[in-house]
Amino acid sequence: MTARRFALSAAAAAVLAPLSFVALAQAQNQTRQPDPKHGATIAAQGTAAGAPACVQCHPISGGSDANGAFPRIDGQSAYYLSGQLRDFASGIRESDVMSPVAQALSPDDVADVAAYYAGVNAPFPSLKAGDPALIKQGEELAKIGDAARQVQSCDNCHGPGGVGEPPVIPYLAGQYAQYIEFTLQMWQQGSRKNSPEAMAVVAKKLDPQEIAAVAAYYQQVRSSLEATGSQGATSPGKN
Ligand code: HEC
Ligand code: HEC
Repeated sequence: MTARRFALSAAAAAVLAPLSFVALAQAQNQTRQPDPKHGATIAAQGTAAGAPACVQCHPISGGSDANGAFPRIDGQSAYYLSGQLRDFASGIRESDVMSPVAQALSPDDVADVAAYYAGVNAPFPSLKAGDPALIKQGEELAKIGDAARQVQSCDNCHGPGGVGEPPVIPYLAGQYAQYIEFTLQMWQQGSRKNSPEAMAVVAKKLDPQEIAAVAAYYQQVRSSLEATGSQGATSPGKN
């Protein structure tokens, strides 16, 4: 038990190490505050430099539609959202759809549109209820993990109920199952290369049934979402 606790805290330390970069980024960025109003204009209309309007795929509420092809991005931290946009632009996270979008944004555009989506809260569409047995299996992985196979619980990093640990760790609560499955597969295949030390390791330990189970579980979690909204809206500048 003691050994396992030690292993968990070592893993958590590896994830939390990037936090020191948050402080560094803040120090460098003090000259310009992100402008969420300009971010809303980018979301609605795109940019003169050729970035398309985000609302073609992520509505102005950030919630996206029930088909699950597009992630919910409302209320994720600005730090997380801007980091993903930079990773799409550089190819650390490969996407035929998002990479050209991100490449068309200037660094200020990225900061502004991330600040905008971090500050909104979308309603939930009604979704078909998932298979209760699958949800139960997913809940166990999410809350307890699987000690025998050294899979630590998802909530250990993603917070109780998957509400997220902003700014570094995104919420999973209420995220679309189809997107969760897709992005875990991208880590398994190596086309999502951010978080090699945490998420690539976690994803590679899961089989397809377990991926379907955690995805089905988190999609229907609603309990602590008020907390997500207020935490997620915290921009790195306010921390
Ligand atoms: C043509 C559709 C389309 C447009 C336009 C689009 N997106 Fe996306 N977005 C996607 C898809 C699809 C994904 C999932 C990609 C993946 O995981 O490989 C995504 C993922 C993201 C993510 C990652 C979210 C996460 O949880 O990791 C962010 C952030 C994002 N988009 C922001 C934006 C912003 C900001 C704009 C506008 C400047 C925009 N997107 C325009 C389709 C689009
Ligand atoms: C050791 C800490 C840690 C553990 C344990 C962990 N995660 Fe993560 N997770 C992260 C970090 C850090 C990120 C952000 C990665 C990035 O920067 O793109 C993340 C991101 C994700 C994302 C991407 C969300 C999005 O919007 O694109 C999914 C999905 C995810 N984790 C699912 C899981 C599941 C399911 C489990 C449990 C089986 C789990 N995670 C366990 C640290 C962890």
